[in-house]
Amino acid sequence: MDTLAIAVCEDEDIHDDPIIKAVIKRALKLKEFSGEKDDTVALYDVPDIKARRVILWGLGKLEKSDRETLRRMAGKTVKHCIKKRLAKVYFAVPDPSLIKMETSAILEAMQEGAYLGNHLFYKFKGEGKKKALSQIYFRVPKQITQNMRQLSLRVAAICEGTTQARDWVNTPSNEKTPEKFTRSIVTLAKKQRLKVQVLHEAQLKKQKFGALLAVAAGSQSKPSLVLLEHKVPGAKRTLALVGKGVTFDSGGLNIKTGTSISDMKSDMSGAAAVAATLITAAKLKTKTHIIGAIPIVENMPSGQATRPGDIVRSYAGKTIEIGNTDAEGRLILIDAISYVIKRYRPKVLIDLATLTGACVVALGDKIAGVFSNDDDLAAGIIASGEKTHERCWRMPLPDDYKELLKSDFADMNNISSSRGGGAITAALFLSKFAADTRWAHIDIAGPAYLKSESAYCGPGGTGFGVRLLSDAIRNCSNI
Ligand code: BES
Ligand code: MN
Ligand code: ZN
Repeated sequence: MDTLAIAVCEDEDIHDDPIIKAVIKRALKLKEFSGEKDDTVALYDVPDIKARRVILWGLGKLEKSDRETLRRMAGKTVKHCIKKRLAKVYFAVPDPSLIKMETSAILEAMQEGAYLGNHLFYKFKGEGKKKALSQIYFRVPKQITQNMRQLSLRVAAICEGTTQARDWVNTPSNEKTPEKFTRSIVTLAKKQRLKVQVLHEAQLKKQKFGALLAVAAGSQSKPSLVLLEHKVPGAKRTLALVGKGVTFDSGGLNIKTGTSISDMKSDMSGAAAVAATLITAAKLKTKTHIIGAIPIVENMPSGQATRPGDIVRSYAGKTIEIGNTDAEGRLILIDAISYVIKRYRPKVLIDLATLTGACVVALGDKIAGVFSNDDDLAAGIIASGEKTHERCWRMPLPDDYKELLKSDFADMNNISSSRGGGAITAALFLSKFAADTRWAHIDIAGPAYLKSESAYCGPGGTGFGVRLLSDAIRNCSNI
């Protein structure tokens, strides 16, 4: 084994193992290591330790240490090892009673951080590549390894889903046109034996998906609606997940300017999260019946593109004036939502979308906005957000703001007549089509994509939503 990694708190012992305690004592004596947050030191050829190298990583104060502290420690340690061109790492797992956390919570967090921190995206790189670690171990007392096997398999599947979503988001738009992205999802979904159906352009036209088709009109690439189904015999209720799949959002004729256009390959992050969550659910043989509906389009300007001022008829029959072609996400979502509700009558519907820059202004780039017509559903999502650290904050759906979406010529306008509250008016637009279905909308425009790397994610797609939804499906009784 190359490396033993040990998490250390600055104020309390969190390890019980006398050998580990001795190593920590040795490191603390050096004075250059104190266990403060992200403080680190490497020791070599320590007596009684088989690994050639020991890395100690500071967590800071015990009182402030939680799941996320461990996730970050594990992620950063793995990244550090990758940089040093090492191949294997062995984590000393803190003692549950000393760190005041359940064994399962400690292992889950450390495994997540390590697995996700080990993900690299090199599909388009020929040189300058580092190598991911080949093996990551966790040192736990013998009697508990048995119970932890199940947990470990589940965490691995969910992390694999997360890295799949990241890969999709990182893929550039020229390599994930709607046709290519559709095929990629279908291939992976079939591999996991999900039921797969794709509505192609001809069917979308025939069935009058007018809002979705209006967004796709300017692109050379054909739109689709991908339907994935995780079947559970005898299941009494259905959960539907809908994900925004805009493979590139140029803004259309209301073209985006400056830097706002440059990361718009990520505008299918909701689609990636939904597809990956279904694939994960199939792998885990989840007990919930789940439908994934993924509208996929590219939003481009051209002679065929939809114009500002055009009026289109949505799948549900309402007419919509296109006030702005850059407010395209809501147009493809409403047609997918209406279709799913009509066809599957789900008990709960959750949509994920990189919907508004306004949500990023409100909550920054680490927290998603949650809009819901159901308090219990919102609370369940927020609780899963705390646990997974895919944080969510509830936002309001004030009835009187609906007036802002009025149109002089059609049933509604796709943009608000006011400058403020853009994330809210976008959510209200969706809410009209969710009608009386229990529904939540998660605006992930901020947390879906990172400009530069974090503790357990590289630059680019984060896979936000896969861990959140997987946890909510498992733990939220009203989903
Ligand atoms: N895809 C964007 C939202 C977005 C912004 C995602 C920043 C990720 C980062 C969306 O389609 C959009 O363009 N929204 C407009 C809406 C406006 C025209 C009403 C926006 O936020 O400016
Ligand atoms: Mn847009
Ligand atoms: Zn968009």
